[in-house]
Amino acid sequence: MTAETATRNLSDAEARSLDAGEQHYTAYVGPPEEYDLMGATQFRLLTTLGLRDTHRLLDFGCGSLRAGRLLIPYLQRGNYHGLEPNQWLVEDAIERQLGRELIGLKWPHFYAFDDFRADRCGSGFDFVLAQSIFSHTGRDLVEAALAGFRLALAPSGLAAVTFIHPGEGGIAEFEGSGWIYPDCAAHSPQTISAIVRTSGLFGRELPWFHPRQTWYVLARDPGRLPPREFDRHLRGAVLNLPSWRDSL
Ligand SMILES: C[S@@+](CC[C@H](N)C(=O)[O-])C[C@H]1O[C@@H](n2cnc3c(N)ncnc32)[C@H](O)[C@@H]1O
Repeated sequence: MTAETATRNLSDAEARSLDAGEQHYTAYVGPPEEYDLMGATQFRLLTTLGLRDTHRLLDFGCGSLRAGRLLIPYLQRGNYHGLEPNQWLVEDAIERQLGRELIGLKWPHFYAFDDFRADRCGSGFDFVLAQSIFSHTGRDLVEAALAGFRLALAPSGLAAVTFIHPGEGGIAEFEGSGWIYPDCAAHSPQTISAIVRTSGLFGRELPWFHPRQTWYVLARDPGRLPPREFDRHLRGAVLNLPSWRDSL
C-alpha cells in the first residue's frame, strides 16, 4: 500500500489531525475539522439566496461533496451537477457519506473536465457554486471560469463564489497564472470587479461569513443581485462555536 493510499484509508477521526491538502477526502479540500461546517455554510447561503428543490445547480470544483452531501438529498432528482477533476474525492464522499442507494435515488451528474469551462456541464443553471476555487487560481483562470459561468447560468441565475482578498490570511495579490494548490492566491476587489465586468456578469461582495475568504454573488441580470438592505439576513453567523466567533 502506498503512503497516499494509507492516508486516504484513514478513518474520519484519524484524518482530523491531517493538514489541509493531504490525501484524505475530508482534508484535501480544506481543514478536516471543518469538513462539516464548510458544507453547512454553503448550503445555508444557497438556501438563504432562495435555492429550491426544483432548481438546477452546478457545484464547480465540488471536491469531496462538502456542500454536495447536503445539496444532493435536498434537490430533486437529477438537479445536482458536480464538476471535479479529482474524481477520487467524489468516489470517497459517496462511499463514506452518501451511499450508493442515495445516488441511485437522486441521479446527481458528475463531470471531470479540468479546463474551467462550466458551460461544458450544460446551461440554464439556476445556481453555480464555486467555493474555494478562485483562491487557487491566477487571473487567467478566473476569467475563463467566469466566461463559462455566464454561458452556464440561466438568465435569472446566481453564482456564489469565494475569493481571497490581499491581506486575508497574510496572502498577497497573486500575479501568476494557472492553478496553484494547496497554495493560495489573492485577488483585489478591483481586479475581481474588472474580471466580473469583462465576463458580462454583475456582482458584489456579500457579508456572509467565511473564516478565510470573502463571498461574492454574481448574476447575468443585475436585478437578481440581493439588495443591500437585505445584507442583515446574509451574515452566516454560527452560534455556540468558539472557533467561528468572528461570524457573530
Ligand atoms: C479547496 S477545494 C474546494 C472544494 C469544494 N468546492 C468545497 O468547498 O468543498 C478545491 C477543489 O477544486 C478542485 N479542482 C482542481 N482543479 C480543478 C479544475 N480545473 N476545475 C474545477 N475544480 C478543480 C480540486 O480538486 C478541489 O476539489
